Parts: sequence; structure tokens; C-alpha cells
Amino acid sequence: METGINRRPLNEVIADALIVPAPEKEPPQLGVAADEAVKELYDSGEFTGEKLSFALLRAPAGLKARRLVLAGCGKREEFDAALLRRVAGAAVRRHRSRAVKRMALYLAEGMQTAATVGAAIEGALLGDYDPDRYKTDEKKNDKRLEAFSIAAPGGAAELDQAHERGRTLAEAQNFARDLAYEPGNVLTPGELARRAEKLAQEEGLECDVLDRERMQQLGMGALLGVAQGSAEPPALIVIHYRPQGSADSDVHLALVGKGVTFDTGGISIKPSQNMEEMKYDMSGGAAALGAMRAVARLKPPLPVTALVPAVENMPGPKAQRPGDIVKTLSGKTVEVLNTDAEGRLILCDALTYAQRLGCTHLIDAATLTGAIVVALGHVNTGVFTNDEGLQARVLAAAKAEGEKMWPMPLDEEYKDELKSPFADLPNIGSRWGGAVTAAYFLKEFADPKPWVHLDIAGTAWLDKDKPEMAKGPTGVAVRTLARVALDWRKQ
Ligand code: BES
Ligand code: ZN
Ligand code: ZN
Repeated sequence: METGINRRPLNEVIADALIVPAPEKEPPQLGVAADEAVKELYDSGEFTGEKLSFALLRAPAGLKARRLVLAGCGKREEFDAALLRRVAGAAVRRHRSRAVKRMALYLAEGMQTAATVGAAIEGALLGDYDPDRYKTDEKKNDKRLEAFSIAAPGGAAELDQAHERGRTLAEAQNFARDLAYEPGNVLTPGELARRAEKLAQEEGLECDVLDRERMQQLGMGALLGVAQGSAEPPALIVIHYRPQGSADSDVHLALVGKGVTFDTGGISIKPSQNMEEMKYDMSGGAAALGAMRAVARLKPPLPVTALVPAVENMPGPKAQRPGDIVKTLSGKTVEVLNTDAEGRLILCDALTYAQRLGCTHLIDAATLTGAIVVALGHVNTGVFTNDEGLQARVLAAAKAEGEKMWPMPLDEEYKDELKSPFADLPNIGSRWGGAVTAAYFLKEFADPKPWVHLDIAGTAWLDKDKPEMAKGPTGVAVRTLARVALDWRKQ
């Protein structure tokens, strides 16, 4: 899709549909004859400005645009960039069609900020995405938009940069969505590694993929234990971004993402209902790779390394058994009480390896537990940390990017759950507080480095369409992770 900023007077904007953000009780004034018809829609109660509601006027008087779409934004005092992102996405999804290929979204002078421009472009690109690559029906592309512009009459020059950044972030997020919805037979650990190598090559990043042998030499027993039940060999994907002059930077950020390309549960096998969804168990890894794509293009001033341990969790003849004891890269031993708690087993070795590579701050994203879905549903990502400062950065970035995240506790008392009679740690706690004990397990390997863990099990996949986003993979955390790096020096 083509995107851009159109600085011409509003009445000269050419589009199949012109989207106009419309608050409750205040009919927008465009300074053209169509204002009368807009006011009538409000007066008659046909359109109230309710959030994400729409009204369409054909051939609006005084405009070159063929349609005018009023896009409800709710109460003016509640309006922000996050809402505009959703409004733009919903407007695109609702109004794109064979006849509507070119859309523009109007930002009145007082609304033309870097945040609104970025959010609108992101919303449009995310909204126009459909996970339909495997549908062979040629008609599927009929509805895709050809162009989306921000109509910002007389807009300042800085808006171009905001547009570029929004576009880059949304494309990175759609890249992650593309990966997450690939089925397990296509996206094996090896295939994920190939796609990461391709990404690195295209973006000018360094890439190192560790194979089973190298992991054995290093002693990544926990990661390898998960991988041994599958015929697909594991891979530890490492991608580096090193900006010029950062060789002696005191900060080196690691983005670690769970890359289980399919999670059957292993010998502790999952029930078959909804098991097909476990192809998205590599969404954390996809988010780390997507964030690197944005980082490579937007060039923050600090080194960033992505680490994605990629495995398939299968109950093959060589699969690990409940009760097996594995030795992690850190030297700690783990008793595997449940082979379905595999995410923490691959992440612990990746977290240790990140530190060996010199990373000073660690952020991981993982579809780690069903328990976080019980706690927070599909609305918020759970955030766990051993460092308030790093958590503040992550929450600020999430807020700025409109990704809902909620801090969760990690008190020492939870450690009592992680006692094994035979090894240093078990890989599960008791029945309760499962998201916290999973995070606590990771903390044992992240300490003493500042670390934040994002449990995205409830937010990485949509079971049904939202007005602003198709069902399926969401690409959650890509924008937040990239933004943490981009804003690092600002705090
Ligand atoms: N991949 C799952 C977690 C998950 C559940 C992601 C639902 C997305 C939706 C993870 O590997 C897992 O199976 N966790 C177990 C842990 C349990 C065995 C302690 C869980 O949450 O049930
Ligand atoms: Zn599992
Ligand atoms: Zn899993």
C-alpha cells in the first residue's frame, strides 16, 4: 500500500473515501458545503460520534473526495493517538472495497502531531492486513487498499518523519504477524532461522544461527531437552544491530523471544481441542525479529541483539520425560516435571547466552502461560520484572504505542513454589499463580541483570475479528520493543 501525507487544501484531496474523525456532540467543520449534511446527521441522531461508529456520505458537496466517512471518536477529552490508531484501522477494514481503494484521513490543524500521524498510518496498515496467504481465491485482494494518506492541509515538515516511523513500525508488526500465522508444517525451527537470516541480510544486520552441535558444546541442556522429541532440529537465532560508534556503549539491549514453532506439550501432551493454535507459540520470537526490522531502519543509538531459541515441542521417541533432569547453560539443574512448560526451558538458556554476549539489559516476550490468559484475558500483556527502572521504560513505550500492558507481582514468596527435591529447580510450581511462577523461573536466570518479561499468551492471537484488526496473529509487542530501544536516551 502506498502511504503519504497530503498537504493540499482539504477540498482538493482526491480519494475514494475521506475519513473524518468525529467526536461526540461536535459535528466536524470542514469549511465546505457538506458541513450542512454532516450537521444534519448529528441533529437527526443518525450519527452520534460514538467510538468506532461510522456514517457515510456519498458525493459530499464541495469536496473532490467521492465519499466522506464520519469516524466516531467518542468524547473529545478521551481522544488520544491510541484511539486514532484504532479508528483508522476500523475505518479501513469497514470501508475498503472494490470501489474504495484510495483513502485519506483528515487531521485538522490542531491535531497534526507526530503521535497522531504515526498512529493513523499504523492503524491503516495494521487494519489492511489479512492472514489469507493460503487462500487461493483470487478475489481476496479485491478489498485491499491501494493508497492511504493523511490529509494534513499545510502540515509541518516534521510530519514526514512521523509518517515514515509509523510506517516502519506497522510493517515490522505485520512482518511478525506473517511469521506467527504460518502453520507448524511450514514454519519449522529451521525455516524460522532461514527467514531470520534473510531479514538480517536485507536489513544489513549480523546474524548467527547456532545449530544443535554448537548448543551441545556450549551446554544448553534445557533448550536441547525440549528439542529432542522432534525430528526438526533446533536453532538459536541471534541477530545483532550495532550502530556506529557504539562499541563501548554501557548499554546493550537483548530482545529474547520464545520460538516454539509448535507446542504439542510433548509427553505431557495437550488436549486436542484448540491445539492447532499452538502454532503461534513462536509469537514472542516473531516479535523480537519484527522489532529488529524496525530497529535496523530507525537506528536507535544503542546496540540491540535479538535471541530467538527455536524448537518444536513434540512427543517423539527421543522426547524428554517428566522427571528428567537437565543441566542449563548457567550450570543450574532443572527437574522437568511437565514437558508442556517448555517455554521457560528454552528461554533460560537464551537469557544466559544473552549475558555471555555482553547484553546488559534483557527483555523477553513469550506466549508463556495459559495462566496469564486466566488473569488478564485477551486485553493486557502481563509484565514481570526484577528492575523497576527497566519496567518503567517498557510501560512508557507500551503506552506511547497503544499496546496495553499490566505490571504483575514477583515477590520472593513465590520462590517457595520452585523447590525440587532432586535438582536446583523444578520447571513448574503448584497449580496457583502459574504465570508468576513461570516468570520467577526466568528471573532465576536473568538475575542480576535488569530484566522484563512480557507474557503475551493472551494478546498474541485474536480469536475473532476486532473492528480494527483481523482475527489471528496480532504482532503484539513489536512496537513496544522497538520503541524501548528508540527512546532509550530520552529518559
Ligand atoms: N504455550 C503454552 C502457553 C499458552 C497457553 C500459550 C495458551 C497460549 C495460549 C505453554 O508452553 C504451556 O503449555 N504452558 C503450560 C504450563 C503448565 C504446564 C505449568 C500452561 O500454561 O498450561
Ligand atoms: Zn507448553
Ligand atoms: Zn509453549
